[in-house]
Amino acid sequence: MSALVLHVTGARPNFPKAAPVIAALERHGVRQLLVHTGQHYDRNMSEVFFRDLGLPEPDLNLGIGSGSHAEQTAAMMTALESVFLEQRPDLVMVYGDVNSTLAAALVAAKLGIRCAHVEAGLRSFDWTMPEEVNRVVTDRLSDLLFATSADALIHLAREGVDPDRMHFTGNPMIDTLVRLRDRFDGSRVVAELGLPPTYAVATMHRPGNVDDPETLARMVAALRGVGDRIDLVLPVHPRGRQQLEASGLFDHPRVHATEPLGYLEFLGLVEGSSLVVTDSGGIQEETTVLRIPCLTLRPNTERPVTITHGTNRLVTTDDLADRVDEVLAGPAPAPGQVPPLWDGAAGERIAGIVVGALGA
Ligand code: UD1
Repeated sequence: MSALVLHVTGARPNFPKAAPVIAALERHGVRQLLVHTGQHYDRNMSEVFFRDLGLPEPDLNLGIGSGSHAEQTAAMMTALESVFLEQRPDLVMVYGDVNSTLAAALVAAKLGIRCAHVEAGLRSFDWTMPEEVNRVVTDRLSDLLFATSADALIHLAREGVDPDRMHFTGNPMIDTLVRLRDRFDGSRVVAELGLPPTYAVATMHRPGNVDDPETLARMVAALRGVGDRIDLVLPVHPRGRQQLEASGLFDHPRVHATEPLGYLEFLGLVEGSSLVVTDSGGIQEETTVLRIPCLTLRPNTERPVTITHGTNRLVTTDDLADRVDEVLAGPAPAPGQVPPLWDGAAGERIAGIVVGALGA
């Protein structure tokens, strides 16, 4: 029987990273299984992404759902252990930095199954972020580490990772963006909200921003300040939805809430916008390639290449309004420079290395 690669995905940001790798391995004729942990389960957090990205239906959905970190990670590990024992994959592939990523890497390591981590080596050095814990542990447990940027290789080397295990393959999430860019379409949302031609987009869901009432209140005041300057659309992530709705943010006449959007609609909305305010990781990268100014409401980023090569800038609630004024007064970012290997071919590079490793 030929070698089996088992992909574990679970949360929204996993899907655009996994899609090009799965497609490229398919072209190489590799036997694959796609397991969805069910970490994200709302239709527009999961199913719509599978449709938009043309991902195959998961072979298995473990239906784990939400819970505390320990509950969720433990439930995933128990379910994944049975799957790995039954399927006996030759390689488990994990993506990004969510709890599904960590759970799968831990189970694979304990069963002696090789693990490949796509988007290895990113570091915010901020241990208050659950994603930082997930990244560091997943990298430590992985046999193949695929980096999206050169800084990631430096972090991995400093942590003692054998250089033979790390590969600078570029950014597969950008493969998905490049492939689907012609189909981005935010027009439904623009029409339904009656947006003017000039508008901004915001996303907020980090525990560090939405869980603590005082931090949330400062963020809401800052976003209302953006609304005083430009119409602002905020697709509301389920985490923090109640708090944001109760906060009065959407009482502002120029701040508009929507449900979470699918991949094509969200990036269509972003592509048509004048600026983005976010605390997401992936959106810092997508705006870098789309050349849309991105103001990241966080004290740090694990994606510094989006600042050095892209349109990203870290902001605080105190200086957000000034930064928005600067963006609106300044010229639009010039087209051109994107980070090295963010070229639409990362999935193919990763697949080539995986095929080589399976054969070895
Ligand atoms: C997770 C990731 C985060 C990523 C984000 C993208 C971890 C630790 N965090 O955060 O890195 O940026 O996904 O979306 O893995 N919920 C629903 N429906 C869903 C999913 C979640 O209502 O389909 C609600 C539940 O109340 C849940 C809460 O959102 O408790 C948080 O979900 P969870 O998967 O724990 O983390 P996210 O905040 O989504």
